[in-house]
Amino acid sequence: MVAYPREFMDELIARSDIVSVISRYVSLTRRGSGNLGLCPFHNEKTPSFSVSSDKQFFHCFGCGVGGDVISFVMKIENLDFPDAVAKLADWAGMEVPQSTYGENDRNRRKRAQEACRDAARFFHERFKADEGKEAREYLLGRGLSPSTITRFGLGYSPDTWSSLLDELVAKGYTKTELLEAGLVTTGKTGKIYDRFRGRAMFPIIDVRGTVIGFGGRIMGDGEPKYLNSPESEVFNKRKNLYALNLAKSSRADFMILAEGYMDVIALHQAGFDSAVASLGTSLTEEQAHLISKYKSRVIISYDSDKAGRAATERAIDILKKTGIDVRVLVMQGAKDPDEYIKKFGRDKFAKLLENALPSAEYRLSMVRDTFDLSDDKQRVGYIKSAVSQLARMSSAIEREIYAGRIATETNVTRDAILQEAERERKRLLREKKREEEKKILDPVAAIMPKEKEARYKNPRSAVAEEGLVTICCGDVKLTLKTSEKISGGMFSSELLGRVFDVMTERARSGLDTDMSAFTEVFGENEVSHIATVFARNADKSADAIDDYITIIQQENMKGAAAESDDAILAAAEFYRKKKGIRNG
Ligand code: CTP
Ligand code: MN
Repeated sequence: MVAYPREFMDELIARSDIVSVISRYVSLTRRGSGNLGLCPFHNEKTPSFSVSSDKQFFHCFGCGVGGDVISFVMKIENLDFPDAVAKLADWAGMEVPQSTYGENDRNRRKRAQEACRDAARFFHERFKADEGKEAREYLLGRGLSPSTITRFGLGYSPDTWSSLLDELVAKGYTKTELLEAGLVTTGKTGKIYDRFRGRAMFPIIDVRGTVIGFGGRIMGDGEPKYLNSPESEVFNKRKNLYALNLAKSSRADFMILAEGYMDVIALHQAGFDSAVASLGTSLTEEQAHLISKYKSRVIISYDSDKAGRAATERAIDILKKTGIDVRVLVMQGAKDPDEYIKKFGRDKFAKLLENALPSAEYRLSMVRDTFDLSDDKQRVGYIKSAVSQLARMSSAIEREIYAGRIATETNVTRDAILQEAERERKRLLREKKREEEKKILDPVAAIMPKEKEARYKNPRSAVAEEGLVTICCGDVKLTLKTSEKISGGMFSSELLGRVFDVMTERARSGLDTDMSAFTEVFGENEVSHIATVFARNADKSADAIDDYITIIQQENMKGAAAESDDAILAAAEFYRKKKGIRNG
């Protein structure tokens, strides 16, 4: 983690009240001791997003996100820690101090980015030079115009072991910097060589216009078809979309989501300049959030094969959570947008965009395609599947409309279909409720963190630890008093123990013990888990603190006893082995 000077961070946090920061994005209303609003991270109509001023954290009971003021800014603006700090400092009218650890990290990242930019220039120059002939023929042969090639900064990586390495070392980059930038690889013998060799190069540029990585396509057959930069501090696939830097300023009111580099480039060349691609992985929540920041509608235009359809299903769910209007383009006669435009032209593709189906309708049409409606038996099968799709639609209006269509298709009355859908809906709701009740009845399952690393080993103690840290959070005096009786080392949960120790340390330095400084110390998942803990223990009263301390001490003693039992057993085993005695 990045370390800024203590005084700077303390002041920044003191000046960055979480309620005022979040109010820049979410309209909050006071509710009891907290503040409530509509969650900016998922789509909802009734507020379940709460912000605590005493404890300085936010948590959404709907989707489970949570954290402190810094992690909020990181999430909503898609920034890393130093950039979020810079933004908060700007709002607080403070200067971010120079020449600290943090600055070093920033410089390292900047160097890696500069190396990527210089590499992109190098690849582009090689592309235009004699040796780039094959790449030029390849890309022009695939129908790209010279101006498109320039616009996307496409290039060629020479088929040698070190031409990029030599070039960038001569420019003053160290080998470490080039490794960090993902431009070179270390071989088995420790020798360093160019990662990309003999490929057509696609620079990947983030939304701010910085080159952060590359995709390199083999020209002709071979594996892998695309070689990409490795994940690194500069290149985070999950948080970027190919061509978003161009698409974000398109005048279209929708974004086109395609699968591949070539699809996006072909689309832009044909005038569809709001196309982006999700860098060869399935769409992530971060990417969905990014799209929803720029446009209120997205048209999914994935490949028409089976894999593409499966990816579409997943993407619909993820995109819908952000509240964006999701449509799906249905394409026949070509496997992807690139091929379609080449075969049928831009105007035909424009028609496909116009006719893109709302996601609910798309799903229904997918179901319909698997049945033969002229056959009575299959018609019943279709109605059943269609009804289950209807039941999952959250809008009553949508359900009515689509029920009408299904009725016409199948010759069954709309009312009958709606009734079935209603029954199915109720069943789903009951099922959901039962699951939730089961959770409440099983307190261990209810408190168990989702992340494996944070699983509680001793639930009885963990319940007390959760209550204790929650009560102490935001209460300096109580933290000091409690810390005289117990320390984080006695906790069964390593994470909660650290939470308590951090609060103790802050209290002893005369600082607030609220959550505001947690992102500095804890990882992203940890911060989010801590916010969940605080949120679900919010009703715990300070009177319980002595009971909690007792429980933690008791369980800790038991643990210690069990450990010494283990030690005795191990010693006995050792002795037996030594003496050649078998068990018993
Ligand atoms: N991809 C990847 N690594 C691979 C294959 C694919 O990263 N080995 C990613 C690339 O971003 C690629 C996307 O997945 O653009 C879609 O893959 P595919 O449909 O196979 O490629 P196309 O984009 O259609 O590429 P082309 O038209 O050049 O075959
Ligand atoms: Mn393709």
